[in-house]
Amino acid sequence: MEKNKEKIIFSGVQPSGELHLGNYLGAISKWVEMQNEHKCIFCVVDYHAITVKQDPEILRKKIIEAAKIYLASGINPEKSVIFQQSAISAHTELAWILNCIARISDLNKMTQFKDKAGKKQESVSVGLYDYPILMAADILLYNTDAVPVGDDQSQHVELCRLLAKRFNSQFGDTFKIPELIIRKEGARIMGLDDPNKKMSKSAGSSANYIALTDKPEAAMKKIMKAVTDSGKEIIFNKEKKPAISNLLTIYSLLAEEPVKELENKYKGKGYGDFKKDLAEITAEFLIKFQKKFNSFTDEEVKEIMDEGAEKIKSVAEETLRRVKERVGVIQ
Ligand code: TYM
Repeated sequence: MEKNKEKIIFSGVQPSGELHLGNYLGAISKWVEMQNEHKCIFCVVDYHAITVKQDPEILRKKIIEAAKIYLASGINPEKSVIFQQSAISAHTELAWILNCIARISDLNKMTQFKDKAGKKQESVSVGLYDYPILMAADILLYNTDAVPVGDDQSQHVELCRLLAKRFNSQFGDTFKIPELIIRKEGARIMGLDDPNKKMSKSAGSSANYIALTDKPEAAMKKIMKAVTDSGKEIIFNKEKKPAISNLLTIYSLLAEEPVKELENKYKGKGYGDFKKDLAEITAEFLIKFQKKFNSFTDEEVKEIMDEGAEKIKSVAEETLRRVKERVGVIQ
């Protein structure tokens, strides 16, 4: 991405399950950095969340919680827009039109669907299969220049680019082609119980992740119990030492200390010392984070999201109008 030039940035998180350190380190903390230089739009993607069964009462709470997590992470609503996806109906309308541009073969390539649906491909919702198209609509509605996400979303952003190009070549130049932004470190935080699988809110065990709402003492226990590798040196080597490399990445990002410095700091020390320090750093982070999280009322957060939607609705509607005109459904 060209430096020192204001760009339009769009990203989002699903308000489902428990948002965790992976979401924060892989995506949200990067958004916080970007908001000082760019025009940022951060969406709580509630329509994505209902692609799997949700309890309506819990979903309502999770939507507010996701927005509070944005705010507690440092997203400033004076600088960035925070809004709820379902508040702007252009998202689903554009998704329908893009459905008619996308091919079954495009969606059949999506590895996340294969992972999520597993052996139940015939019984999961059509929405789960189609969700990358809704994601493409989210991005394209706002003339987005760049999309900062974790590594697991890169294939979906690539699909968005493909659909935008296909639409442009079929109907004339309409969409800006967005760039994918993946951070160098932290784009794939791995599970604490299994360093070969990503940290995930849909993991079978809560020992897999540190939720941003975990009690600090509980998070410390999870770190102390985290799986380690054979040997005892604290060195970064993803192939040979996936567990320690993952913990080093988390430590480095939370403490803002380069991995190389951490390797030197723990030369000659054991996993126990290293984990004890990381547990403390994690607890300190959560205490600060949760203090801020709890400082917002639900009402305040709803207002921030409503104002956010009000601010950008016209951009989405204008893009949709242009698309409808190109497709031929506006006289
Ligand atoms: P979601 O809700 O699964 O995840 C939100 C963000 O967190 C990142 N992430 C991770 N990063 C590093 N390590 C991990 N273990 C980890 N787990 C999750 C994800 O890559 C993501 O950036 N479809 C999207 C949400 C979405 C969206 C969009 C994103 C909908 N529309 C438009 C960007 C633009 C999703 O389900 O993310």
